[in-house]
Amino acid sequence: MPSTSDHLVIGDVARRSGMASSAIRYYESQGLLASTRTTGGQRRFPRAVLRRLAFIRAAQNVGLSLDEIRAALDTLPSGRTPTKADWARLSRSWQARLDEQIAALERLRDGLTTCIGCGCLSLQRCRLSNPDDVLGETGPGARYLPPALRASSQR
Ligand code: FES
Repeated sequence: MPSTSDHLVIGDVARRSGMASSAIRYYESQGLLASTRTTGGQRRFPRAVLRRLAFIRAAQNVGLSLDEIRAALDTLPSGRTPTKADWARLSRSWQARLDEQIAALERLRDGLTTCIGCGCLSLQRCRLSNPDDVLGETGPGARYLPPALRASSQR
C-alpha cells in the first residue's frame, strides 16, 4: 500500500531519510519514533518522522547515546517533533560535550606525535594506549580512549 499525503510507509521513510528500514524499525522499538498500523499490520509514519530522524542523526553525530536522544526528545511537549527553536535549545546544551570531545581528540593527536615510528604501546609511557596515565585508576575493562571519546563509542 502506498504512502498517503499525511503518512509514509517505511520504504518511503527509508528512501527520503537515507536510513535503512531496519534502523527505522529499531528506532521505533527504542521509543524514538512512533507509527500507526494499518488493519493489515503495516506501519504508517507521520511525515514529521523525517525531521525527527534528522534530529536523531544529528544527535548521534554529536555523540549522544540513544538513551540521551530519547531523553532529549522526551523534553518536548507531547513528544512532538523538534522545531527550529527546540533544535537551537537542545543543540546548545550539547556544546560542552563537543568541546570535551574535541579536547580529547586533541590530546590523542598530541600523543600520536610521540608514537609515530615507535609502536611500543607501552602501558607506562604511551599517551595513546594510556591517555593521561589513568589506566590504573579507572578500573577493569577497555581503557584506551579518553573518557569523552569512550562515552560516545559505547552506544
Ligand atoms: S607507541 Fe610508543 S609511545 Fe606510543
